[in-house]
Amino acid sequence: MASLPSIESLRKAIQAPLQRAKTPEALNAFRIAWLGRKGKLTLLLKKLGAVPLEKRRTLGKAYNELKDELDGWIATREQALLALQRVHALEKESLDPTLPGVPRPYGTLHPLSHVMRDAVDIFRALGFVVADGPEIESEFNNFDALNIPADHPARDMHDTFYLNLPRRQLALPAMEGLDSRKDPTLLRTHTSPVQVRVMKNHPPPLAIVVPGRVYRHEAMDATHLAVFHQLEGLLVDTGVSFADLKGTLSRFAQQFYGPSLRTRFRPSFFPFTEPSAEMDISCSACGGTGCALCRNCGWIEIMGCGMVHPNVFSAVGIDPERYSGFAFGMGIERLAMIKYGVNDLRQFYENDLRFLRQF
Ligand code: PHE
Repeated sequence: MASLPSIESLRKAIQAPLQRAKTPEALNAFRIAWLGRKGKLTLLLKKLGAVPLEKRRTLGKAYNELKDELDGWIATREQALLALQRVHALEKESLDPTLPGVPRPYGTLHPLSHVMRDAVDIFRALGFVVADGPEIESEFNNFDALNIPADHPARDMHDTFYLNLPRRQLALPAMEGLDSRKDPTLLRTHTSPVQVRVMKNHPPPLAIVVPGRVYRHEAMDATHLAVFHQLEGLLVDTGVSFADLKGTLSRFAQQFYGPSLRTRFRPSFFPFTEPSAEMDISCSACGGTGCALCRNCGWIEIMGCGMVHPNVFSAVGIDPERYSGFAFGMGIERLAMIKYGVNDLRQFYENDLRFLRQF
């Protein structure tokens, strides 16, 4: 019978591979190699049966002790390896919950969006609903239907960007109803053509506001932009009078700029309203005593308005004998300029964060 290895030599033989097992998986492989069903120590223990009785007792005891010892070593090492694995995992995540957070930059509404929303909300509370229309318009909707025929001098006030659109672009859904061969297309110079669109499709009574972008072929300076925003309004019903116009617009101005504000209406001219007026508000900067903002006159003009012209009603198929209405249009940039005391319109478009963050 081949003699069994001594306990000492076994202990030594075990140490090296045990030390080499540096992961829980490697340790498991080591355990199987020694203590598994066909493990080295398991096989040696089986061979003990062939050892003569007097030797078997002491040798068996020593082998079993070694097996217990080995179990202990493996368990200890397993704990150590698992702990190490956890440490590594934590280090990898490197999450330190005590560090202060990284502040995220957050966006805010553009001042013009604030003004537009505030203005629209005031009219909505009065029962107006929001309508819109395309920025590419027909010359007919932008001018003719609004009682501005081709030779009308009012067209000069609207320096217009005319378009020469290819046919495939006119096929887009947004271009519905436009045919540039019959009716030239342009970038709308005001939001008033939406009045035409709405009245053509909805019988009165109606009360709408139209926020939107408009275009004029103008040289830009502190008080002029080629692209800007308007808020249009239109109310049509039976028995609407100029008093309704004054009441509605004064109410708007006081809600928008503050209750102490006064308004006045000056006669003016727009081809699509008769009579027409411009509404002034008492200067928000000086309260009416005169300052740089109001050019020392105490009043600031904020919108054009008037009673819908009978010709406009006729152009959209509404009976001017039966219905009357008022309309108004204001520049959003101008409202914002007055509200925030900004003296150069271009600042709203320069995207200078130092400017924008103030709102
Ligand atoms: N559309 C006019 C403009 O752009 C403003 C306006 C609208 C005036 C409605 C009267 C009625 O100047």
